[in-house]
Amino acid sequence: MSIISRPYNNLNYRKVFMNDQTIILQLQLGAMENFTYIIGDPSTGEGTVIDPWNDTDAILSAAAKNKLTLKSVLLTHGHYDHTGGVKFFSEKMNLPVYLSKDEFMLYVPACKTLKRLKDDDTVAVGTLKIKAISTPGHTPGCISYLVQENLFTGDTLFIDAVGRADLPGGNSGILFQSLQRIKNLPDTTMIWPGHHYGTRTSAPLSILKTSNPYLMSNDANDF
Ligand SMILES: [Fe+2]
Repeated sequence: MSIISRPYNNLNYRKVFMNDQTIILQLQLGAMENFTYIIGDPSTGEGTVIDPWNDTDAILSAAAKNKLTLKSVLLTHGHYDHTGGVKFFSEKMNLPVYLSKDEFMLYVPACKTLKRLKDDDTVAVGTLKIKAISTPGHTPGCISYLVQENLFTGDTLFIDAVGRADLPGGNSGILFQSLQRIKNLPDTTMIWPGHHYGTRTSAPLSILKTSNPYLMSNDANDF
């Protein structure tokens, strides 16, 4: 994997080329230090947005600057700070919005273009295939999205911590199991969290395995 990373610019995003086939834009938006991501296939100009914050102008500007047209929205979960832009992208752009089927019991954004995902489903973005990996615990229907060796973990896993499990629908034991599943991915997998709560904006799984105390734990009772 070759990575060319550019720092945040005046549009407040960081651009990462994973290779010739994938562009990742990491936008830090809002007072809660949320990360919204745009994943793009430069060969087709198609892109998707993960967890759109409600600053949709910033998201559209970043996509346009990189010659990407957004075709879909992927949600890691249904909390409001990850879904603020859903109404715009659904109603104004008629984009499909993907959410875990297990999130519908508690957290469902008002949206007419919602589509249900289950574990191991894939969503195509140009020639890219984005795989849904069920990682519940922060909420009942948390999904992490895998594209090539990049995992977008929402509030399941941050660089130095994990998401809360004490909110409605949360379960620390289930979160622990989800972390074990993530730990089984290759060490070279890049972790892209849902908030900038850590010392870095992304990191390989190998580093988190030796620095994130929640990922280092092998005992569910530690949670
Ligand atoms: Fe959350």
